[in-house]
Amino acid sequence: MDNKRFYITTPIYYPSGKLHIGHAYCTVATDAMARYKRLCGYDVMFLTGTDEHGQKIEGKAKEAGVTPQQFVDDIVTAPGGVLDLWKLMNVQYDRFIRTTDGYHVEAIQKIFREMYDKGDIYKGSYKGKYCKDCEAFWTESQLADGKCPDCGREVHDAEEEAYFFRASKYADRVRDLLLNTDFLEPRSRVHEMVNNFIDCEGGLQDLCVSRTSFTWGVPVDFDPGHVVYVWLDALFNYMTALGYQNERYSDLEKFWPADVHFIGKEIVRFHAIYWPAFLMSLDLPLPKKVYGHGWLLLDGGKMSKSKGNVVDPYLLSERYGVDALRFFLLRTFPFGADGNFSNELLIQTINTDLANDLGNLVSRTTAMAEKYFGGKLPEAKQSNPELDQELGAMAVSLRNRYEEQMERFQFQNALEEIFKTVQRANKYIDENAPWALAKDMEANGVRLGTVLYNLLETVRICTILLIPFMPESCGKIFAQIGADEAARTWDSAWHFGILPEDVEVHKGENLFPRIDMAKELEELERIQEEARRAALPAIEIEPQTEEKVDFDTFCKSDFRAVKVKDCQRVKKSDKLLRFTLDDGTGVDRQILSGIAKWYAPEELVGKTLVAIVNLPPRKMMGQESQGMLISAVHTEKGEECLNLLMVDDKIPAGAKLC
Ligand code: MSP
Repeated sequence: MDNKRFYITTPIYYPSGKLHIGHAYCTVATDAMARYKRLCGYDVMFLTGTDEHGQKIEGKAKEAGVTPQQFVDDIVTAPGGVLDLWKLMNVQYDRFIRTTDGYHVEAIQKIFREMYDKGDIYKGSYKGKYCKDCEAFWTESQLADGKCPDCGREVHDAEEEAYFFRASKYADRVRDLLLNTDFLEPRSRVHEMVNNFIDCEGGLQDLCVSRTSFTWGVPVDFDPGHVVYVWLDALFNYMTALGYQNERYSDLEKFWPADVHFIGKEIVRFHAIYWPAFLMSLDLPLPKKVYGHGWLLLDGGKMSKSKGNVVDPYLLSERYGVDALRFFLLRTFPFGADGNFSNELLIQTINTDLANDLGNLVSRTTAMAEKYFGGKLPEAKQSNPELDQELGAMAVSLRNRYEEQMERFQFQNALEEIFKTVQRANKYIDENAPWALAKDMEANGVRLGTVLYNLLETVRICTILLIPFMPESCGKIFAQIGADEAARTWDSAWHFGILPEDVEVHKGENLFPRIDMAKELEELERIQEEARRAALPAIEIEPQTEEKVDFDTFCKSDFRAVKVKDCQRVKKSDKLLRFTLDDGTGVDRQILSGIAKWYAPEELVGKTLVAIVNLPPRKMMGQESQGMLISAVHTEKGEECLNLLMVDDKIPAGAKLC
């Protein structure tokens, strides 16, 4: 039975904000893999969860004015939170761990102590650049222009007492693991790890595994004031969730070592170097594989909340259905490499593969079965080896080709194999021209029934293999083609002729309607822009400048009340308005101002404004501007706003402002 069990994990997510489509990518891939293994008859454990400790969360909770526990509880369980997203994406995990769960916290304390007792964790001091405001240590390379990367303030050299893990002791074993086994995939990531972190100058450094500068973490029970470093705490989730060092679960023997940890490429270092080293320290078996997938990029850059360039999975699945979205993620990008997300690509994939190829095949086949046979095919069959053989051979051998790709986590290739078969089946329709056969049902009815039966069988096999990617739609297709439970199994996926000869077909809803690309892109852009704006702060005001101006210099600026005698748009300029102003001198003053976006010229005539009148004249669009009008500026929902300073009309033109 042992070889029929499969343990797969996703990274546990930081519940520090809303998850986006990039986060969903890894979890959907893991779900597809878990469903595939279940389909193959494995006893599967699919673990996911949340990584809830650390300074970042503590800081965010403080900002929000709640305790860190309240903060994470909200993000994990609230509508639109982590659990909700997995439900939306139809992620069928078997266990969900939160690192604040009591059993995990206790287990981490035991693990820390055991490593300490063994001498693999020792007390030392942590040196680095410290930001007092953020209470954070940074390394030189993390600084932004020599300043704190979080708040931009000055940092200074500081030292704090801390515990260290003796990673250096395991350098040789980890190097050997990486270079001489298939532990880390894709292989392209191996040399980067070995060269940058093990065979680098100074070799593999011991890792600081405790902190005293904040409190939101697992306390080191034998040294109050220290909390366990978040990565040591987080990595062991893969074992505590099975019952390691706790009584809550008892699946360790059954499921450890894990078959594969799916993770994003930026956390390969922790999983491929420190994680095995921790396990070596405790003499525990190592996971069989770590797979570092690529990133989903947006406009060539990583999606991140701080950049504001995230894509909302709720919006997309509401518009196209969860299955289409799941399918798109795994069909379009090779799992090991980065992929550039775009709305256009998403719609194109849905239209080409789902609407044109698969959707058409299913709807044409079921529609013809209804039209020509009232849904029930005749029992008698009449093969035509010349026309039938290629499709049949392709369909029964599909499972093997698919399996080979799935076992290597090459979802894109596995789907490519399925769609080659779908396309072949569509071609088979054209080759057999059922509509021509139908013209003489007496002569060709049996052959027509056979053609449709072959199509149904091909659809059935493809649909079985699509279950991991689009579970819900597959259920609907099975219902339409009359496939009962026995005709939906892995074992039945390499046999042709499983559906009863007189199978009953029900043409159902169109599963993947075609999308009007141009219209949809426009609509999506509008919605996404609206959402982006809604997420922006209501009002932003430029911070006050710290630079001082001396009083005498300030007094040289001559501010005057001016009355608008005339105001016109400047020809060929979208921005400029030309003001003719009474400044009290008896001679008109002309000022040009770039405010056409905010004001119609006629609404300003007669108003009393404020101008600075002793600036040197400037030419704009060939016309002279003798001064500058004063306005108030701020940003509202990302949009620049401007209001001319208008004063009481009682104030005479030319009055000095001081
Ligand atoms: N908490 C750690 C993992 C600890 S595992 C013991 C963490 N969390 S995270 O929330 O920041 O990221 C979770 C996963 O989402 C990572 O594997 C990360 O690579 C993945 N992704 C986040 N944005 C992504 C994309 N834009 N594209 C693909 N995956 C991305 O790291």
